[in-house]
Amino acid sequence: MHTNNTFHKTRYIKPQNFSKFTYAKHSHWSILEQYAEELYGQTVEPTKVQLKVYQDLLVYAFIRENIGAGKKLLDVGGGNSRVLKRLSKEYECWNIDPFDGCGNGPTITQENTFRLVRDYMGNFNTELPDNYFDFVFSISALEHTPNDPLVHQRILDDINRVLAPGAYSLHLLDIIFRKENHWVKDMLLYMFDHTAPLNGAMKPLDEMLMDPDLYLMTKEPYDTIWKSRCNNLEYEEFGYPCSVNVLWQKPYQK
Ligand SMILES: C[S@@+](CC[C@H](N)C(=O)[O-])C[C@H]1O[C@@H](n2cnc3c(N)ncnc32)[C@H](O)[C@@H]1O
Repeated sequence: MHTNNTFHKTRYIKPQNFSKFTYAKHSHWSILEQYAEELYGQTVEPTKVQLKVYQDLLVYAFIRENIGAGKKLLDVGGGNSRVLKRLSKEYECWNIDPFDGCGNGPTITQENTFRLVRDYMGNFNTELPDNYFDFVFSISALEHTPNDPLVHQRILDDINRVLAPGAYSLHLLDIIFRKENHWVKDMLLYMFDHTAPLNGAMKPLDEMLMDPDLYLMTKEPYDTIWKSRCNNLEYEEFGYPCSVNVLWQKPYQK
C-alpha cells in the first residue's frame, strides 16, 4: 500500500539512469517482472506477451519509483488505459484520446477510472489546464501521428503546456525492425531531436540490432494478438516489434 510521497524502496529506473531504457532490453524484465502482479494481478512471461506489457510495466515502474501518490497523471492516447485503471485510487488520473479507432485503438470506453478529454493532444484543448500535470506519458500512441513536422511540434508544445514546471514526460513508441525499411515514424525522431531527452540521443537502429540484450516481441503473441490486425502477414514478413522510449523534463520557470 502506498501513502503520499512514498516510493518503492529500491529505485531501479530514474531520470538519471534512463539512457539504459532508451530501447527495450531483455535485462529490463528482471525489474519489470517485479511489478506485474501489482499491475495485472498475475505474473508475466516476457516471451509470451505482447509489446504493450513491456511498455505498461516500464511506465508503471517509473511512476511507482519517481512520482508520489496523489500526483496528477495524464495518459496521451491512453485508450482503456491499464496503467490509469490500476492507479486511479492513488493518483489523479486523466486521459486524452479521441476514441476514434486511430491506430487500432478503441472507439468506446466504459472506464470511469480517469477523467477523459475526447480530443487529440496537439489541439490545445482547454479542458487540460496549463502547467498542471506532474507526469505526462504515452504508450504505443504517438507513432500514429502523421509525418508532418508542424503536427509534431504542436503535440510537443501542447504536452509542454500542460506539464507542471519540473515535471517529467515519458513516451514509449513502437518501431518495427524489418529486413528492409525498418518502420520508424518521424514523430519518434522529432521527439529525440526537439526535447533535450534525459536519456540522450536516439541510438542508431543498426547499433540496437547488434545488441544481444535487445528485446523484440516474439512470434507467439504476434500470431495470437497482432496478426489478424496486420493483414495476416507472417511474423517474419511483418517484422520484429520493439519499443523506443524518450523521457524529458519541463524546465522550472525562472
Ligand atoms: C494503439 S492505441 C493505444 C492505446 C493505449 N495507449 C494502449 O496502450 O492500449 C493508440 C491510441 O492513441 C490515440 N492517439 C493517437 N494520436 C493521439 C494524439 N495526438 N492525442 C491523443 N490520442 C492519440 C488513438 O486514438 C488510439 O486510441
